Amino acid sequence: MTDRYAVFGNPIGHSQSPRIHALFAAQTGQDLSYQAILAAKDGFAAAVRAFMASGDGPAKGANVTVPFKEEAFRLATRRTARAEAAGAVNTLSFEQDAMIGDNTDGAGLVRDLKHNLGCDPAGRRILLLGAGGAARGVILPLLLERPAELLIANRTEETAARLALEFANSFARLPGCAVDVKPDGTGFPGLSGRQFDLVINATSAGLSGASLPLPPGVFGPRCVAYEMVYGRETPFMAQARAAGARVADGLGMLVEQAAEAFFIWRGVRPRTAPVLAALKGN
Ligand code: ATR
Repeated sequence: MTDRYAVFGNPIGHSQSPRIHALFAAQTGQDLSYQAILAAKDGFAAAVRAFMASGDGPAKGANVTVPFKEEAFRLATRRTARAEAAGAVNTLSFEQDAMIGDNTDGAGLVRDLKHNLGCDPAGRRILLLGAGGAARGVILPLLLERPAELLIANRTEETAARLALEFANSFARLPGCAVDVKPDGTGFPGLSGRQFDLVINATSAGLSGASLPLPPGVFGPRCVAYEMVYGRETPFMAQARAAGARVADGLGMLVEQAAEAFFIWRGVRPRTAPVLAALKGN
């Protein structure tokens, strides 16, 4: 019997996850199926239950994407510390009497930075742009890498300040999450005169083609600029390039978060380089 997996989202048509997991399965010789499922906006839990009840083989797990990650968090009967910190779940594992919720987004980003881009966050001055779900999901994994500094900057300053305080006060106290560095929060004007070694864009500004009011000085010497959006050149990427930064988009994070989910489910870590190369090929 073939173990079954799926990704739930709305929309879901352009998801690369079925292709990525099919490549991982072929590479590691794992017998599994992985499909994309469009869930109605108000029908996520029902769609998951229908998936679990149907099909030939046992349903073993699921990925969850926009807009259901917070709902998946609530649906999970148990959650990992990194899912708790993210406030969102992108990976569900179905066990006998439990649905375990994890979040692999931050681990995916860190792995892409360290292993694919040669940019170890340890000791770096990090600027995280945005204070929504995408930013929240990567804060704890970044802090655990022990950067020199983590500053969260957001258009709405108050949201950044609140998020930074929340991490400084609570998540750093979770078991296994002791971190020395306390994040700080600011608005974009607070960036003037500041300089960073790694600038990560977790805002959704690029999706609407909007640029961010960043002083060019934020991109320090040998700075890496990471855009979480992939598949397009965003104004942030152009700004960073013009300031001399090395620029990466979020395709590597997409593949690495998938690899982390695959590892959770199958206990085997697939090689990501050939999959990333295949995705870049078209
Ligand atoms: P996501 O889950 O993708 O993070 P979100 O929770 O809606 O989506 O958050 C979007 C983030 O992008 C927020 O930090 C938002 O800033 P505000 O909190 O001020 O709304 C940021 N954002 C979106 N469009 C932006 C723009 N044009 N300029 C600057 N920041 C923008």
